[in-house]
This record gives sequence, C-alpha cells and structure tokens, in this order.
Amino acid sequence: MPASPNRVLFFDTTLRDGEQSPGATMSLSEKIRMAQQLELLGVDIIEAGFAASSAGDFECVSTVAREITKARIASLCRTVIADIDRSAEALRHAKQSRLHVFIATSPLHMEYKLKMTPDQVLRATDDAVRHAARCAGDVEFSCEDASRSDLDFMVQVCKVAIDAGARTLNIPDTVGYAMPEEFAARIAYLKERIPDDVVISVHCHNDLGMAVANTLAALRAGARQAEATVAGIGERAGNASLEELAMCLTVRKPYYGYEHAIKTDQIYPTVRTLSRIIGQPIPLNKPIVGANAFAHESGIHQAGVLANPETYEIMTPESVGIASNNLVLGKHSGKNAVKTKLEGMGYHLDAAQVDTVLGAVKSLADKKKELYDEDLEALVLEEIYRIPDKYRLVHIGVQSGDTGVPPCAMLVMEIDGVRREHAGFGVGPVDALFSAIATVTGRKPKLEQYAVNAITGGTDALGEVTVRISEDGAVGVGRGSHPDIINASARAYVNALNRLAKKREEISREQEA
Ligand code: KIV
Ligand code: ZN
Repeated sequence: MPASPNRVLFFDTTLRDGEQSPGATMSLSEKIRMAQQLELLGVDIIEAGFAASSAGDFECVSTVAREITKARIASLCRTVIADIDRSAEALRHAKQSRLHVFIATSPLHMEYKLKMTPDQVLRATDDAVRHAARCAGDVEFSCEDASRSDLDFMVQVCKVAIDAGARTLNIPDTVGYAMPEEFAARIAYLKERIPDDVVISVHCHNDLGMAVANTLAALRAGARQAEATVAGIGERAGNASLEELAMCLTVRKPYYGYEHAIKTDQIYPTVRTLSRIIGQPIPLNKPIVGANAFAHESGIHQAGVLANPETYEIMTPESVGIASNNLVLGKHSGKNAVKTKLEGMGYHLDAAQVDTVLGAVKSLADKKKELYDEDLEALVLEEIYRIPDKYRLVHIGVQSGDTGVPPCAMLVMEIDGVRREHAGFGVGPVDALFSAIATVTGRKPKLEQYAVNAITGGTDALGEVTVRISEDGAVGVGRGSHPDIINASARAYVNALNRLAKKREEISREQEA
C-alpha cells in the first residue's frame, strides 16, 4: 500500500512481459544483473517471471527473490492452484513477495481462449485468489483484456478478488486498444465502487502508441500503480515505457502532484544495461534516452540553448543519468579505483572479478589512451557476465584490401574444449570470418542484423558489434566489443551462437523435465 495517497508505485515487468518481446530473451545471470539495476533505479515491485511456465522462469524468480531485498518480487500465475503453489515456492526466500494472479474477463477471451462462462471465471477468481491469499500476504489480481471487458462484469470480478484477499487490482489494456479518456473513465468507475485501501494498478500495451498516455490518464483517475517495462519492451509493440512515465511525473510534477521512488539519474544506466543485455541499440530518437534526445541541430536552437538551456530543454541530460564527460580510468588506475568506479555504476563484484576487470582495463589502456564509463561497462559485460561458452575463439586473422586476392579469414576455435582450425574466403572480411566460423562450428544460421557502433569517440574507440542470427525459428543476439571491429564482429557472432546453443539446451532440459 502506498504511504501517501499521492504516491505512485512502479511495478516493473521487464523480466516477465518485457522478455516476451521478440529477441529479448535473457539468461539467468543477465536477469539477475537487470534486477539489481532495477533495484538501484528504485522500482517498488519487480515481476521476475511466471514461475510455473518453465524451469528457467522458476529458477529466475527464486534467484531474484533471494538476491533482491529492497524491491518486492512478484511472480505471475494463472487462476490455477498448481501455478500459485509453484510461484509461492519460488518466492519462498523473498524478503517481500507478491503473487500476481490473472484471468481474462473479456467476452472474446472467455469464449475463445478460456472456453469458460462468466460464472466459471468468477468462481475461478474466487478459488485462486483465496488460495493465493493463504500462501502470501500480498496478492495482486489482473483482469486480462480488461479494456475490452464489459465494465460491470469487470467490476464484479474485481469485487470477488477483493473479497478473496487481493489488495491490488490490475486493469490491463492487454491489446493496446484503449484511448486515454475512455480508459480513465473505466478506472474512475472502478475506483468509486471499491474500498479506498485497495490499490488500482494499470498495465498498458502500446499497439496504438497510447501506452504511456493511457497510464497517465489512469493515474489521474485514481490508479496508484503503474506497470511498465524499461524502454517499453514487451509483447508486440511493447508496454508503457518506465522511463517516460517516470520523467512525465517528474518534469510535470506541478501538473500531476504525485510522488514516486524512481531515481531518475539511474534511468540511462538502466536502459543502457538492458540494451546491452538484449543486444538491441537504443533508437536515436527515443524519448529521454536516445542519442538525439538532447542534441540540438538547428542554429536557432543551438543559440537558444547556449544562452539558456531551458529555452529548448525541459530536463537536463544529468537528471536522467547521461553524463557529459565521464573520463574515468587509465593505465595506472589501481584495484581500488576500479572497484569504486564499478560500484558507482551499480556493479558489485567480488575481489577475483575486480582483478579480472582490472587486467582487462590495463590491457585496453595499452591500446587506447582514455577509458570512459562505457568502455568499462563493455569490459565488465564481456569479462564477467558472459555466458559459459560452448564455442570459444582462440585466434583470428583476416586479410582484406585491394590485393587481387578475395578477402580471407583464418581462425582457431575451441568447440566443447576441442581445438579446430579453418580458413576461407568471402566477399568482405566480415563475410569471410562469419562463413569460416559457421563452417567450423557446423552451424548455418541466417544473419538477420549486423550493427557496428563506436562506443566512445575517436578512431581508437572501442567498437561494439551487435549480431542477430536465427536458426530453426530460434533467435540469438550476440555482442562483442574490441578496439578492432573485425575482432569485435567475431566475438559478437560467436556470442550469438553460444546464446542460441544455450537456449536450445534450456529448451531440451525443460522438455525432459
Ligand atoms: O497484458 C496483460 O494483460 C498481461 C497480464 C498477464 C497482466 O500481461
Ligand atoms: Zn502485458
């Protein structure tokens, strides 16, 4: 329950609904890393997964529940007793937990998906929420497809859920169909008919680009919990974007008058962490965090900003955690400097891990004069959070240029610890390299995306390559960073292959289980 009537709770579902976004699958260690960053960001509730849906989700919910202490940890469940028991088991060690029970309430979903009558939905809600309330002190109930549900039936189901023990009622716009005024009216109608101490939550999808607008309209109508994801990732067009909501409530505080606990200077680090984990770059024009969000191209705007930034900037880059100059470490930096810097960036590593990063910092500093936060972060992700590799690059050599000989790549790799060598030609150096890796690993994935990004300025910048491949319907995203972009490309490609292999292993483990 919020401490004051004007306090808005942020419920982050990046690890559950967000992960349903195509290509956004995360490994367990990546989800833990993301959950730690969400805790630093100050979200109130983290939905860590749908424990009953797979062994991987169960493991994620239970590990996040053990590791995270400040935020409340939630697990999604259908109105099925076995789902609720499984979630309760996964949340056993959480300091603060929440069971999030849902059932669809729209005529379409009840008839075609659930094949249940409205009476059966009411009974299932009562039984499940009652059972959940016996297992946990905190139960949230969601009417899936609420915005297309009959209003009075939706209220009736909500009342059943309250009587059975739910203290938060979530009204999702599951298919992103609602418009702000209409959605606000639905929330106001519900608010008038339920006790004041029950929190109304909203969960909006972005199919018509209205997720943030609908969420804000619902808050004005009495909702006090906003469900959102970092960068708005999620099923189809995604969910309401957490950073946009937080900044609307912050920049327009005099208009809304609501309190929240988001530390806005952790917004950019959080979006960046997600972007690196899922291997999807932040779009240039993305509100709040895109590279163009604070760039002023036209002369008139530049002159205005120089005279007074407020002429064209309604918030500062610093307020969302975008540092203008973050020159950090060099060749002579010691262990303490690296450790302190990492902690400031939200990475809490043990002594051996700090040593590993320090070694990597020194070797990068030999090649590159100035190291920035982004360089350091790239090293940490590369050295510490990389998933265990089935395929490992040992050496690569590439020859290209206008020599009359087609570009050629030579490589040495280890596959499950066995050394293999190969050389081959291609239309360009990256093509030669990727074909050689595909041949040596015996895999034939389709390359769907290849993107190069210079992480920091200068020709000695660390190059970051993102590769997206697909094979038999499964998608693997890989990242690699290195001052040599050919080397970064090879790392990214092998990383994508490793992630695909890991995904397949997890699927077959689950099928066996
Ligand atoms: O979009 C939706 O309806 C959901 C519910 C399960 C909360 O994600
Ligand atoms: Zn959803």
